[in-house]
Amino acid sequence: MIAGDRLVAERRRYTVTTAAAARRLARAHLARVGVHEGLLGLPEIDDRYHVWRISLSGDASAPPAEIVIDAYEAVVDTARSSRLALLQQHSAAAGRRATKARQRREPSGALSHGEPGSPRLSPLPDLAIRGDAASVLDALPSGSVDLVFTSPPYFNARRSYAEFASYQEYLYLLERVFGQCHRLLGEGRFLVVNVSPVLVRRVGRSSASRRIPVPFHVNAILEELGFEFLDDIHWMKPAGAGWALGRGRRFAADRQPLQYKPVVVTEYLLVYRRATDKLLDWNLRCHPDPEAVRASLIADGYERTNVWQLPPSSDRRHPAPFPEALAERVVSYYSFRGDVVLDPFAGSGTTGRAAHRLARRSVAVDIDPAALAVMRADAAAGLLASGTMWLDEDGGLAGPGLAGLPGSVAGRAPGEGPTGRPSTGGRSTGGRSTVRPRRVGRARRGNRG
Ligand SMILES: C[S@@+](CC[C@H](N)C(=O)[O-])C[C@H]1O[C@@H](n2cnc3c(N)ncnc32)[C@H](O)[C@@H]1O
Repeated sequence: MIAGDRLVAERRRYTVTTAAAARRLARAHLARVGVHEGLLGLPEIDDRYHVWRISLSGDASAPPAEIVIDAYEAVVDTARSSRLALLQQHSAAAGRRATKARQRREPSGALSHGEPGSPRLSPLPDLAIRGDAASVLDALPSGSVDLVFTSPPYFNARRSYAEFASYQEYLYLLERVFGQCHRLLGEGRFLVVNVSPVLVRRVGRSSASRRIPVPFHVNAILEELGFEFLDDIHWMKPAGAGWALGRGRRFAADRQPLQYKPVVVTEYLLVYRRATDKLLDWNLRCHPDPEAVRASLIADGYERTNVWQLPPSSDRRHPAPFPEALAERVVSYYSFRGDVVLDPFAGSGTTGRAAHRLARRSVAVDIDPAALAVMRADAAAGLLASGTMWLDEDGGLAGPGLAGLPGSVAGRAPGEGPTGRPSTGGRSTGGRSTVRPRRVGRARRGNRG
């Protein structure tokens, strides 16, 4: 935390200033009333009522239960807390689940650092790879990435860096790359995609322009791959942005109904978690480096809503970078120090620079040699890690550092899949997919999404 930056509990001068203290009080209360603590959630502060709220989960079919602690008095507010019978119901269900998990010898929600099944530190060094993300990511070991943040190429960008024969082919690329991301992400970790509808201009006076709802098709792909949707953040650009593109001028001319078209000033950041039955609390408690978790607390002044106002960025060296401030927010909100942050469509390496500044490791992939040249210049200027390993798919990916990694391409026998199992291709392995390009848009009507 930044010096002088005080948590809300400190500013309000509460007696209970930390989540750990609130949890201790909740535990003591449960012990007093004879309820096994079950699955206590992470305490939330509610400074409107000057209380801490701690959920107790276990029975998904029952209404949610919580214990409420008076933040000034440091006692349980029994009037605001759930009834004893409901606490008991959740606790009993959690107990039954824990017993079953033990019997199956599976890691349960009560794991702590170092126990079997808890996450391990990634073995990856800082990496910059020139190549097609749909294939080069296959070289990295499963579970070796802690966060993915990316902005895929635009479907209809005029620049040569994003030419696709059809929209189906475009989505097929995204499906293969996100399939790899799913395999690479650790359990319960996050993927954030910056994506927006694209405008396909009309070809002549007798035809209309079309907007393709890319984020909604991407959502369908991600859910199918095993990601759980969490949030839609709207990156809002300052007033005036977008007007130059011409949308809205027709309506402004005579304001006839039906011709209304808003000027688009936002882009989506869609936030997903690799689907798991583990609560977020599990990721915090079982992180292999508790000191890194403590050191990654987010300073005050963070974004409180899902509308983030930031000016767009421009960089002579790349046609479509996102702002560094955007990448910094995503990296700091969704990863810990020392974590590995992957951007499979890295462009000028904005995600990597943010990761480096925030003491994370970066894995950056781009198909364009010019993008790698920009990253090399940034590494020379100290904006990326000096020890970054540079690889090129044309030169083979088994660089000296990758060779020793368990599950990496260099450690596998020919024909083996990324987990060391024989490669079957297709969506479930995230390996080289045998899935054919998908049909989307009108043809997919009736499908999920
Ligand atoms: C929208 S740009 C990313 C910009 C980036 N966020 C930045 O801040 O500079 C998309 C990038 O994807 C890259 N790209 C396109 N197809 C690719 C592929 N199959 N594998 C890896 N990179 C690819 C393009 O070269 C381009 O640099």
